[in-house]
Amino acid sequence: MISAISILLISCFPLILAQQPYIRDQLEDCDSRDNSTSVLGYTCNGFRRSCQAYLTFRAQPPYNSVATISTLLYVNSSQLSQLNSVPEDAVFQTNRMVLVPVTCSCSGQNYQINASYVIQAGDTYLIIANNTFQGLSTCQSLEVQNRIPARDLDPGARLTVPLRCACPTQEQRNNGVNYLLSYLVTWGQDVSSISALFGVDMERTLAANELSDTDNRIYPFTSLLVPLQDPPRSYQVTAPQPPPPPSGRSPSPALPPSGSSSRTWVYVVVGVVGGLVLASVVGTIVFCVFFRKRKQKDEQIVSSQSFESVEKPHKKEGDEEDSQGFLESISSIAQSLTVYTFEELKAATQNFSPTSWIKGSVYRGTINGDFAAIKKMNGDVSKEISLLNKINHFNVIRLSGVCFNEGHWYLVYEYASNGPLSDWIHNKNAQESMTWNKRLQIALDVAEGLNYLHRYTSPPYVHKDVNSNNVFLDRDFRAKIANFGLARSAEGQDGQFALTRHIVGTKGYMAPEYLEHGIVSPKLDVYAFGVLMLEILTGKEVSLLYEEGNMQLSEILNQVLYQDDGQENLRKIMDPLLEGKYPPDLAHMVFRLIDDCLKKDPSDRPNMDDVVQSLTRISTSMLSGEWAISISEHQR
Ligand SMILES: *[C@@H]1O[C@H](CO)[C@@H](O)[C@H](O)[C@H]1NC(C)=O
Ligand SMILES: *[C@@H]1O[C@H](CO)[C@@H](O)[C@H](O)[C@H]1NC(C)=O
Ligand SMILES: *[C@@H]1O[C@H](CO)[C@@H](O)[C@H](O)[C@H]1NC(C)=O
Ligand SMILES: *[C@@H]1O[C@H](CO)[C@@H](O)[C@H](O)[C@H]1NC(C)=O
Repeated sequence: MISAISILLISCFPLILAQQPYIRDQLEDCDSRDNSTSVLGYTCNGFRRSCQAYLTFRAQPPYNSVATISTLLYVNSSQLSQLNSVPEDAVFQTNRMVLVPVTCSCSGQNYQINASYVIQAGDTYLIIANNTFQGLSTCQSLEVQNRIPARDLDPGARLTVPLRCACPTQEQRNNGVNYLLSYLVTWGQDVSSISALFGVDMERTLAANELSDTDNRIYPFTSLLVPLQDPPRSYQVTAPQPPPPPSGRSPSPALPPSGSSSRTWVYVVVGVVGGLVLASVVGTIVFCVFFRKRKQKDEQIVSSQSFESVEKPHKKEGDEEDSQGFLESISSIAQSLTVYTFEELKAATQNFSPTSWIKGSVYRGTINGDFAAIKKMNGDVSKEISLLNKINHFNVIRLSGVCFNEGHWYLVYEYASNGPLSDWIHNKNAQESMTWNKRLQIALDVAEGLNYLHRYTSPPYVHKDVNSNNVFLDRDFRAKIANFGLARSAEGQDGQFALTRHIVGTKGYMAPEYLEHGIVSPKLDVYAFGVLMLEILTGKEVSLLYEEGNMQLSEILNQVLYQDDGQENLRKIMDPLLEGKYPPDLAHMVFRLIDDCLKKDPSDRPNMDDVVQSLTRISTSMLSGEWAISISEHQR
């Protein structure tokens, strides 16, 4: 699977993401001027000569407060405190990772930020670069920049310290990379663990540093560029180490736990109020566009059971005292979560005004200048919180905060700006833009997210309510699985699959063994995923699919797959908007996969890992086949 994915990625982005050569183990060799690596700094090969970029730094006395770190690195302290969600007079615990926002610019050949430093007794270029600046600079670049021979460093003299930063190349921009973060590697880390921290695909990080699967060794006190779509968030670097990403690689030795940030949530989130002004302006504009679309859509919704179905079971389990107790214990179990006060959420959503309302009990809020989805829930949400807190995957919606007020929970999630997948596949206007390629990518995204849930959470979890209302699309139409309200462990008491008498889920997506016997296993999600893929390819709502000539789904598939006029039947069932714009033999392969996912006997269904592999193979043949050209034309 790894090789399949890397083939896919390599063929997708031939050298495109390749950007800056990694510095490797040259940091001690201060006389070397080998410019085949980035030892003197990252080359100015970017789309812009100046850009917003980010660094990381580990709090070490005396550089362990917002004030001292800002002074050392020559950056704006109010921006630094905001990015790290702490007040301006905050002191960090030793080793806490701090995010540093910088404006990165070209100086001659290289990108850099100029910091300034007064030489102390005993300093050498290496000590300044490695020990004081932790690898954000190098002894080689210090010497080149300051033109003072290494032996003539006088205490008290002032040096310019070029800090390592870079701006995305044009190709990176085209691939959705908006920022580069210079991450300081420490002991026991590898590219995969660092990528996972930021939810970035490891292959992209490798490419950004001109590393590869086979040549991926990194060293402590060097900088590794992490290509980011969105600005980094403080919880990404203060969170407990996430489980290994779904790369199938053996897990890396974990970081020694960095300074606990359990306190930081206490501080009022700076900027909410400031953000509000912006929010009310932007919010109004966005709302007008959004709400209009929404209105058309709402009239078309035939079944909106999914929100209801998620919330009902909780109402029974709910218990006010438990919730209070849970909230109190949250700082220990969920260090990466922000606990908001109700006042903060009211401010973020303009008092839960209709203009902030999205759907059901979900509101859009603006927190620290970023949109967030805020969902009001009743009853016990501790399971969803502790599950999501364990998960860090690009294709799973991120839970960033919680709030409890008057018997209601409010969960704050990452905001996926393109909304639910159902809006896009069932809305004829929106469908136009849903190319075959996009649809396949969305299916692969959902498969990856589910595979992660099944394989890399311990115990394995089952989502139990996979459907097109619970998959959200971000700005780049990448899919994120949401609504884990029904998710539960697949393990019964004796290691067998769990049974339940409490059948909940969404009609049309529920597997037969679950409906009949209440058997809970990851194969439930595989079944629902099969239905979802059918929906994605046909553009039809599930209820309509079932009504199609009163056929069972298996009959529809049977007509496409096993009858003489299969090609014609395929054309009939596919979304008419894709007519002539998809490769029929690959569509046929997808239908075969759907057929497997919908097998009556769960043991005949593939597992999610197999599904990811099959979809990856299909995407790969698409890239190399004759469809490659015409498909990329459609995508533009
Ligand atoms: C560094 O690169 C330049 C071209 O950019 C080249 O002329 C020079 O020889 C290189 N220096 C070293 C030490 O390799
Ligand atoms: C720091 O940033 C804040 C907000 O971005 C800005 O208002 C302030 O003027 C900046 N301070 C300096 C010294 O540049
Ligand atoms: C950094 O300082 C050097 C001089 O020490 C100067 O030439 C260069 O332009 C400065 N670069 C930036 C980005 O300020
Ligand atoms: C760099 O600094 C770290 C910590 O300050 C130290 O452990 C390490 O030995 C240093 N590396 C070199 C090459 O001096």
